Amino acid sequence: MITYISKISDTTELHDSNTLFITLAEFKNSSISEVQNTKDTKISEFPVFTRSKNILYINIAEDISKIDTLDLRAKGEKFVKIAQKYCTKNIKNCVFTADETLSENIFSAVIDGIHLGEYEFNQYKSKKSSEKIEENNHIKNIYIVTNSLKKAEREAWTTGVKFTKDMINTPPSIAIPSYIEAQTRELFSNIKNVKITSILENELETLGAGGILSVGQASPDQSRFLIVEYKNADSTKKPIGLVGKGVTYDTGGLSLKPSNAMTGMKKDMGGAATILGGLYACAQTEIKENIVAVIPLAENLISEKAYKPDDIVTMMNGKTVEITNTDAEGRLLLGDALVYIEKIFEPRVLIDMATLTGACAYAIGEDISAVFSNNEDLYTQLEISSNNTNEPIWRLPLYTRYEKKIESNIADIVNAATGFKAGTIQAALFLKHFVKTDTPWSHFDIAYSSFNSKTNFATGQNVRLLFDFMKNIK
Ligand code: BES
Ligand code: ZN
Ligand code: MG
Repeated sequence: MITYISKISDTTELHDSNTLFITLAEFKNSSISEVQNTKDTKISEFPVFTRSKNILYINIAEDISKIDTLDLRAKGEKFVKIAQKYCTKNIKNCVFTADETLSENIFSAVIDGIHLGEYEFNQYKSKKSSEKIEENNHIKNIYIVTNSLKKAEREAWTTGVKFTKDMINTPPSIAIPSYIEAQTRELFSNIKNVKITSILENELETLGAGGILSVGQASPDQSRFLIVEYKNADSTKKPIGLVGKGVTYDTGGLSLKPSNAMTGMKKDMGGAATILGGLYACAQTEIKENIVAVIPLAENLISEKAYKPDDIVTMMNGKTVEITNTDAEGRLLLGDALVYIEKIFEPRVLIDMATLTGACAYAIGEDISAVFSNNEDLYTQLEISSNNTNEPIWRLPLYTRYEKKIESNIADIVNAATGFKAGTIQAALFLKHFVKTDTPWSHFDIAYSSFNSKTNFATGQNVRLLFDFMKNIK
């Protein structure tokens, strides 16, 4: 639990010896001989000064001007781990303070990290090991001494991030479409101005949503649109529309993925999870907006019912798609969701997020989200939010001369063109068929930015960007 306090003296339970005080400071030109009592040599990258009576001074940097916000945030995450190491059975409280020479901005980035560092996905560790953590070094309460006014906001988006991460990290036989729906209902259960509905297969058939129905055909759990409406502005104000890819497991379907490429595909609902986390932050802080999210949820599995390469699928707007590869499934359910959200809610701006293409990493690497937009103002606003939150994006083109690459001989378009290298652009051009030309729209490919392939855990990236964008949009 993280609590903000403005003065240590206000909080009586911190007056006993059960408290570890950590003060972050910039120690210029420190020499290693000054470092005392580095009980655990692993933390020597953060020299510890004068450790006396549960007080740690942590050197945040020898030259703060040389580290950026992302580094500071990462340090904040590590400080929680360091604190955990120093917390013994008797020490349950930890207080983070900043040396007065540290600027509020710098401490703020570290606090972000402290919030994020508190997150652990350990419910699948056997009892024995979690009990061990509990006994040896587990901080019960983290206190941050700050006058930051951003507390409510920070709590909102970090809670959103935690939800997003939990959804992505949860094993795929648990996190099936019905589970994502249930967890979402639970997340929003105490939040004002929110209405949640879902559209199951019967109704999807009536709507003619052939894309999502085809993808989910082999799954015993029903495919669905999960719809979250947040209304906290004049009812005449057209909403912000959000769509997030929710393929709760992507085997590739009959165009089966090789084993090494299939592992990790529980993350294929990362777009859905990110949209829900960002929307949660908005609703929790009661921003003055109308927002609607349509989350298509389905599992891309194999069985005798699975959709097949060579099938022709009719999408909700009547366009026909020749299935050349059942592994290019995300665009099918997104296409239907984009058509649906425009038809029913007439959003004034539309954002979709999806773990859409493996090619994305070849284009721009693993840290950056690829962003497409048919509208300059919209992209500019997203770029501002990217800068505000330090969550990197890079724009790729909706290059019209590539559009003919996805034409089909037998249907309107194919879902995957062969021998075409720009896979990320191709997928975006596919989606463009399902968005009205005059709707300002942006597509985020977060195939890699949403999941850390080294740790194999979700990053939570783009929740905060989305929150910042919706908070500031005109
Ligand atoms: N879920 C994948 C995209 C993906 C790949 C996300 C790697 C994260 C990491 C998507 O459904 C997919 O399989 N796309 C194919 C498209 C291809 C068949 C045109 C791909 O990227 O290979
Ligand atoms: Zn997929
Ligand atoms: Mg696929």
